Amino acid sequence: MMKLIFATNNENKVREFKSLVGDQFEIVTLLQAGIDVDIPEPHDTLEANAREKSVTIHRMTGANSFGEDTGLEIAALNGAPGVLSARYAGEHKSTNDNIRRVLEEMEGKADRSAQFRTVISLILNNKEYQFEGVCKGRITTEVKGSKGFGYDPIFIPDGADKVFAEMELSEKNQYSHRAKAFQKFVAFLKDLQ
Ligand code: IMP
Repeated sequence: MMKLIFATNNENKVREFKSLVGDQFEIVTLLQAGIDVDIPEPHDTLEANAREKSVTIHRMTGANSFGEDTGLEIAALNGAPGVLSARYAGEHKSTNDNIRRVLEEMEGKADRSAQFRTVISLILNNKEYQFEGVCKGRITTEVKGSKGFGYDPIFIPDGADKVFAEMELSEKNQYSHRAKAFQKFVAFLKDLQ
């Protein structure tokens, strides 16, 4: 079975990924690999930050590795918070503060359209491959729901009538940016076998 290290400390992302891949691949988390690093996101694109994660772990372990970076891109805020999504309200990376800042900046805005975008970077046998997933939707005016993570309480994907935070994971996966990127990634891996 192909073994891949997922360069993340976010257990939510691991759970989402495993729910899509099943047990066709052996996915090892940083925790399971005994690697305790907080990989920086120093670049100004999701693509470069995703690559930073996969390359960092590949260099440390020599193993095939992948990382992903996700941003919420809001049209009325010229694409913000974008690559700064995790730290939008400061380096303490508080989800509640990030959501509060977005809702404040969106006050009175007629155009509430937004998208989540995920970029996965895979280092496989010393070559890099990238996969992208986009989920279009809109920003609500108030917080709802208790499931999911991050900006899930204020984002309604197109085609749905509730926010991500009101959905079970299987329902979120029908729409989500990360699910779309992971599906492309998994299709690529299966083609190799
Ligand atoms: P990163 O990819 O870990 O850098 O995440 C960037 C930011 O986007 C963090 O604040 C996450 O909480 C948020 N985020 C990433 N994926 C999702 C998602 O699926 N739903 C809501 N927020 C997300």
